[in-house]
Amino acid sequence: MKLIELINVKRIYKMGETIVKAINGITLKIDKGEYVAVMGPSGSGKSTLLHIIGFLDRPTEGRYVFKGEDVSNYSEDDLAKIRNREIGFVFQAFHLIPRIRAIDNVELPLIYTGIPSHKRRELAFKCLKEVGLQDRANHKPHELSGGEMQRVAIARALVTGAEILLADEPTGNLDTKSGNEIMNIFDKLNKNGKTIIVVTHDPEIAKRAKRIIYLRDGKVEREEIKKV
Ligand SMILES: Nc1ncnc2c1ncn2[C@@H]1O[C@H](COP(=O)(O)OP(=O)(O)OP(=O)(O)O)[C@@H](O)[C@H]1O
Ligand SMILES: [Mg+2]
Repeated sequence: MKLIELINVKRIYKMGETIVKAINGITLKIDKGEYVAVMGPSGSGKSTLLHIIGFLDRPTEGRYVFKGEDVSNYSEDDLAKIRNREIGFVFQAFHLIPRIRAIDNVELPLIYTGIPSHKRRELAFKCLKEVGLQDRANHKPHELSGGEMQRVAIARALVTGAEILLADEPTGNLDTKSGNEIMNIFDKLNKNGKTIIVVTHDPEIAKRAKRIIYLRDGKVEREEIKKV
């Protein structure tokens, strides 16, 4: 059974008279445990594709089969439940809440899960440890470096136990060294079984993945699969 299966998916935006075909017919399968990079020129549909895969957006046409189940016609509520349970997001700009500590940021996705607060704290701390930031738990975002902020964001993406990590230009705001540290974490998470899909402009970053999907004009232009 495939984890993610898109069948002739389109995402078309109507802006008054103009029609933007952000995703224009993509058929794609991704297995559990894969490590995929998505590349392509600006505007080729990378972020839109990631949002659709992560249930932040939905196709205007085509089908999305998730874990063998066609979710194309699921309600927003049902999609949100799958998203919260299965997907962790990491963005270029970190999206941390500025006024609260690292540990509180990591805990946020657990707030509405019914998990008691001492257990939430424990889980959040474990994830901070996993990204090597146990010493920074009480720092607020402005007291962290860019690379550290992104590591907090990764811990937050992991805290719910999500098996799928989606990252949109996660190293885009970082220097090469911090970017490499972030990618080392992704490599480790993939080795431990997480499915990772990372959008990047950087060929060096994409090389980390075992499969590279190149988009152009909302379509898959070509794919490269690394031989192991
Ligand atoms: N909410 C929206 N409304 C209308 N058009 C949109 C919207 N979001 C994206 N688009 C258009 O869809 C196309 C694909 O956008 P997308 O953000 O997926 O590109 P991208 O490959 O991520 O680009 P970049 O590398 O610059 O981040 C672009 O032409 C964009 O202008
Ligand atoms: Mg983008």
